[in-house]
Amino acid sequence: MNNAESLAHPNAEASTDVPHVDITLNVNGVAHRMECDARVTLLDALRDHLGLTGAKKGCDQGACGACTVLVDGKRVVSCLMLAAQCEDREVTTIESLSEGGKPHPVQTAFARHDAFQCGYCTPGQIMSAVSLLAEGRADSEEDICEFMSGNICRCGAYPNIRAAIREVAAGG
Ligand code: FES
Ligand code: FES
Repeated sequence: MNNAESLAHPNAEASTDVPHVDITLNVNGVAHRMECDARVTLLDALRDHLGLTGAKKGCDQGACGACTVLVDGKRVVSCLMLAAQCEDREVTTIESLSEGGKPHPVQTAFARHDAFQCGYCTPGQIMSAVSLLAEGRADSEEDICEFMSGNICRCGAYPNIRAAIREVAAGG
């Protein structure tokens, strides 16, 4: 047996035979029909198929929160969800937050409190914060820490992020 043969997986040919799915993704109020590999994640569908690049790919394994979007109003890490699981559900991304060119109050608060440095984690932080506020879990510094703990900021902008969320929670 030569090297190439010894490295080939016995099921290599079968493993390329991945089923495709024909799905409709409802994103930010617009229905998108798409055909894709059944293994495509929601994050890749948003970024690569629909061109919505606001949600970021950080770890691609559910550990950093950079890819946070809302599905039926609840925050999810879109790198761990299949696009096919989102059929007939409503997906909301950072692209839909501002209205008529006016930023969402959480976006305004992040800017006012300088709650970012490189900005890579920021869309996920903001989507998570929007959901946290809707969940009514931003009553204390401890709660904000706890319920934002799935969103990692490598630049360490945590105090400013919490200040921004506290301001919106207080009606600012
Ligand atoms: Fe999804 Fe990190 S990219 S959690
Ligand atoms: Fe750079 Fe959060 S602002 S990772």
